[in-house]
Amino acid sequence: MSKIIGVIGAGTMGSGIAQVAAQCGHSVFLMDANTEQLDRAKTGVSKSLDKLVEKGKFTSEQKERIEVHMHYVHQLEALSNCDLIIEAIVEKMEVKHTVFSALENIVSSDCILASNTSSLSIASIGSALKKSDRIIGIHFFNPATIMPLVEIIPSVQTSNETTTQVVELIKSWGKTVVICKDTPGFIVNRVARPFYGEALRMYEEGIADFATIDWAMTHFGGFKMGPFTLMDYIGNDVNYAVTESVFQAFYYDPRFKPSFTQKRHSEAGYYGRKTGRGFYDYSENAAILHPNMDETRGKEIFERVLVMLINEAIDAVFMQVASIEDIDLAMTKGVNYPKGLLVWADELGLGWVLDKSNALFEEYGEDRYRPNALLKRMVKSGSKFYS
Ligand SMILES: NC(=O)c1ccc[n+]([C@@H]2O[C@H](COP(=O)([O-])OP(=O)(O)OC[C@H]3O[C@@H](n4cnc5c(N)ncnc54)[C@H](O)[C@@H]3O)[C@@H](O)[C@H]2O)c1
Repeated sequence: MSKIIGVIGAGTMGSGIAQVAAQCGHSVFLMDANTEQLDRAKTGVSKSLDKLVEKGKFTSEQKERIEVHMHYVHQLEALSNCDLIIEAIVEKMEVKHTVFSALENIVSSDCILASNTSSLSIASIGSALKKSDRIIGIHFFNPATIMPLVEIIPSVQTSNETTTQVVELIKSWGKTVVICKDTPGFIVNRVARPFYGEALRMYEEGIADFATIDWAMTHFGGFKMGPFTLMDYIGNDVNYAVTESVFQAFYYDPRFKPSFTQKRHSEAGYYGRKTGRGFYDYSENAAILHPNMDETRGKEIFERVLVMLINEAIDAVFMQVASIEDIDLAMTKGVNYPKGLLVWADELGLGWVLDKSNALFEEYGEDRYRPNALLKRMVKSGSKFYS
């Protein structure tokens, strides 16, 4: 029997997650406190399915069947028969606590309760429950219908059975699943921080402008977008908020220190594409910024960001946040990196990574650039991540 899935919050993430579940044959109850939002979600899902029909992924009959499976509801009580409920409401702990403790009085004792939170602790969300071994993080990426990666985050309370059931289910939805510890930023939002942070730092030091740093990362690194173009896509308000939250959650570790440049852009309303101006100007007659294509400098810029990214990926291995394979999968499937960072480290040679890292640490004397202890140990023993 197919499981009944509940999704709370019919915004950007919730409506996408609900659509994915319905496409996989589940009966889905999508709940939102705001009825207008439910109407918007219904229209959005229908349009998104139309596109899939146009592309030949579904027939019109299949689209109809999927839509029959979707129930748009505005009362939590309508979720009483669900086997799994994924919460995707506003990112505020008090609100999540209220919703989860109300839910527990409505659902059966074996209903799994999950959160799609990007930045809050699953353990803390689960503390609102009496039976907290059923709490788990299921972190989809935006847009949930397209992005293949899902991070699964068991907390200290989560039972193995809950994790096993969730991993099996989300894999059956065709998603790439990685398991990670309940630590700030999980895998992707932690390991990716230097892509933005080190680029901003080099800009602030006057090493290069936005266009040159973007060119260096795409030209030498094969990244689909440079950091400033990507931040403008994500929105400087959103990206800055994630950086600040990871920085605070890591007890102000200087590795994650946010940048004044991004803060000021965000304060000025220069969010990026959505406001027509971010690091770049998107208005019609705006001047196009041309990079300085000096090969030596470009290579230095790329290598500095890459070494910082690799150091972060190594720290995630060292702190047992996730397996080597899952960290690489997360970065290639969650943020489209051209290569897993640990495969990349092996290819470049860990000795080279350590030398580069030591040179930065020596030059700046800042804790931000300290090479990871695991990297040092591996160089000493001559080992690699993949044999
Ligand atoms: N937007 C992203 O890129 C993204 C990616 C991954 C995870 N997330 C996480 O997903 C969650 C939702 O984010 P979003 O961007 O979809 O938000 P959103 O603002 O688009 O949607 C949130 C929805 O929740 C509804 N809501 C708020 N409080 C409610 C309540 N008490 N009961 C029922 N409905 C309620 C709102 O009406 C709104 O429709 C957050 O926890 C966020 O951290 C977001």
